Formats: sequence, C-alpha cells, structure tokens
Amino acid sequence: MKKFVFIYTYGCQMNVHDSEKMLGTLAQEGYTAATVPEKADLIIFNTCAIREKAEHKFYSQLGRIKHLKKSNPLLKIAVAGCVAQDSRQKVMKRAPHVDFVLGPQNLHVVGNLQTSKRNLYVDENPDIAYQEYAMHRESATRAWVSIMYGCNNFCSYCIVPYTRGREVSRPSSSIVAEIKGLKERGYREVTLLGQNVNSYRSDIDFVGLLRQIDRIGLERVRFVTSHPRDLSTALIDALVELPTLCNNLHLPLQSGADAILQAMNRKYTYAEYCEKIGLIRGKIPSVTLSTDIIIGFPGESESDFEQTVKAIKEIEFDGMFAFKYSKRKGTRACEMADQVPESVKAERLNRLLMIQEDIVLKRNRALVGSVQEILIEGASETDPSMLMGRTRSNKIVTLDHNGAPEGAVLNVIIEKARHHSLHGKELS
Ligand code: 5AD
Ligand code: SF4
Repeated sequence: MKKFVFIYTYGCQMNVHDSEKMLGTLAQEGYTAATVPEKADLIIFNTCAIREKAEHKFYSQLGRIKHLKKSNPLLKIAVAGCVAQDSRQKVMKRAPHVDFVLGPQNLHVVGNLQTSKRNLYVDENPDIAYQEYAMHRESATRAWVSIMYGCNNFCSYCIVPYTRGREVSRPSSSIVAEIKGLKERGYREVTLLGQNVNSYRSDIDFVGLLRQIDRIGLERVRFVTSHPRDLSTALIDALVELPTLCNNLHLPLQSGADAILQAMNRKYTYAEYCEKIGLIRGKIPSVTLSTDIIIGFPGESESDFEQTVKAIKEIEFDGMFAFKYSKRKGTRACEMADQVPESVKAERLNRLLMIQEDIVLKRNRALVGSVQEILIEGASETDPSMLMGRTRSNKIVTLDHNGAPEGAVLNVIIEKARHHSLHGKELS
C-alpha cells in the first residue's frame, strides 16, 4: 500500500533543503508527499528555533493537527530540526502525540521511523559530513547543495551552534560529484549551503572548492551565508574571475554600531565591513548586496540604532532582512542586562524598514533600461499570465508569458522598477 508523508518546513534554506533530504529518504521507503496533512501516515515538522516567533508558529500548528490522531490511530508525528534539538524534552513532555524527535544531525533515521517506538534521535553525528542522501528536490532547474554543517562562531545572540553543532565540511569530491550529477540531469543553478560557507575547509578551502565547481560549467553558482570576517580578498577575486559565480552576496551586517558588534561577538567593526564592501563594489560594480540586521540587541541605545540607520543609508543594500532581537535560552545575550523593551524594538524596526524601502526602489530604478540575463523559474505566482525569473544579481523580474519553460535563460530589457521586483521585455 502507498504511504504518504506531509512535511511542515519552517526557517532557513538549510531547513528547506533538509526537508528535501527527508522526502528523498522516505521516497526510498515507498512514501509519496501528501498534499494535505489529513491524508498523511507520517507528519513531520521541520522546525526553526532562531527566534521565538518561528518556534511559536510550530507549536501552534502542532496543536492544531493533534486531532488527526483520533481519526487515524496509525498516524505518526515527528518533530525534526532546530527546536527538536534544542527543546527535545519539552516537546516530548508537552506533546504526548509526538512520536519522534530528530535533530538536524539525524535526518537519515527518518527512513526507519515507522518501525520504531516513541524515541529521541538527538546525538551528535560525527559522520554527518559523509552522509549521502537521496533527495527529492522541489525544483528541476535550481538545486541546494550542502557543503558544510554547523557553526563555530558563537555570535552571542544565536542558537544555531547549539542546535546544529560544530562546523564540519563535506569532502570536496562528494560535493563535486553531486553537482556534476545535477548538471547531467539538466540543472542550471546551484546554491551552496552552509551556516558560514567561507570557512569551508576539507582537503581544499572554499575558494578552491569554488574553482572546482566553476569548472563543471553550470549556468549559475551562488552561496549562502558568508561571514564578513571570513570574506577574503581571494574570495572576492574568485567572484571576479569565475564566470559561473553570480554577482550577488548575502553578507549579514547585524548592526552598524561597533559596541553592539563587539557584544554580539561578530569580530569585525563597521569600518572593516565597509572596507570589504568597497573592495567588492570596486571590482564588480554590478554586484548586489543583501544583509541581515538585528534590532534591539541588549544594550542597543538610540544612538547605537542611529549608527545602524546611518550604515543602511551609506551602504544602500539591495535587500535587507531585519529582525527584532529575540532571547534564546542558553545563549550569552539572553543573560545580558539592558534588554530592550518590545515597543522600542518594534518602533525602531519600522523606522528602518521604511528607510530601506526607498533605498531598494532607488537601486531597482537604476536598472531600468539595462539588459539583464534572466533564469526563468516559471509562471508568476501572483499573475499566471506573467513569467517570473531572476537576474544573476538575484533580482526578481517579471515579463509577459511567452511560453519559455522553467530553466530557460532570456535576455530581458528592464522597463519598470517596483519595490520587490522589476518588469521587463524579452529582447528579440
Ligand atoms: N534574534 C533575532 N534575530 C536573530 N538572528 C539570529 N539569531 C537571532 C535572534 N536571537 C538573525 C540574524 C541572522 C539571521 C539568520 O537571523 O540576523 O543573520
Ligand atoms: Fe535554520 Fe537557524 Fe532556524 Fe535552524 S535555527 S532552521 S539553522 S535559521
């Protein structure tokens, strides 16, 4: 008999890709993805613990599906991901309807769950870098590829080193083999994934890995996330030299105030960050930059926040993800004095978002009239009479649907700029 699995995925790209790994592993055991949780024999929550809000979303959804066990007594429920690792006992105690808890280092056990009793799988997995997974990828043209796991940075606000463990890099040979296989199957783009990709180190370093991947000759190669401290001139040179690497970088700044950066344990100053950005923009004028900002880190004064505003205005990012600081138990910042009131965080966040909106529009308007190479992702979700794709610099572009399939590469002249996307016309 056919078996069905439904996966709720929260959080970052790492989690999205982990769900692809779980789905692929389960497909080997005869599972198909269910369209709704009501039809599933196994429901998996792939959770995120980065902020309280993400955790909340999971707990309330977990409560909402509890009744499904009454109508289907054979239904199994598994909690995977970062909340599973961090709050395993709490999940098991608070939710007796949960059968399995599996941390991010133990995804591979997902294939054996149906035969197992209520259990926790949260041990450190020293072999994670060597684990090969069957994958069920969402897209047939763009693929995520894990190159390293875990994080050693211990930014004082962050739970990730505790949930995903210490940094380990996958052997380059296995990464290269995976990407060669993707190319053979018609993939056009890969995004290399890791908590801190530029500290990748196996037999070769990150730049060495990029050179090997470039030789495979895919259309586009991207990577996330880079730590500003580890962004070397060798990496910047690789971005210039290697034709498959895209002209886009996500480089989390977190704050524009040096005192806050230091309390965050980020190990760079705002001036050092700017110097690196200056170097990149000098060598690749078309590069786009996006960033993450935390608002209301403990001790953030009005003048510290003003420094962040100043930074955002000075740098003019193409994209910014800004978050209110959220206390995470077990991290150093959680115990710090001078926690900032919620109302102050909310007000500062709004101010920053408004400033950034104008900047994005200005940056997008500067592209009107330019010709951009677009990789088509399919029909636009909001308007199926339109095609949607991305520039090499990762800007979203819509154009009238002309029948081009997913994965097609078109040259488009940009005619209109909006806040979140551009609109253009294919060059004939
Ligand atoms: N509170 C708010 N934002 C956080 N991030 C990480 N930890 C926290 C936290 N405790 C943000 C950082 C990081 C992004 C993925 O999430 O900006 O770059
Ligand atoms: Fe991803 Fe971090 Fe959330 Fe874990 S806690 S899912 S690593 S964003």
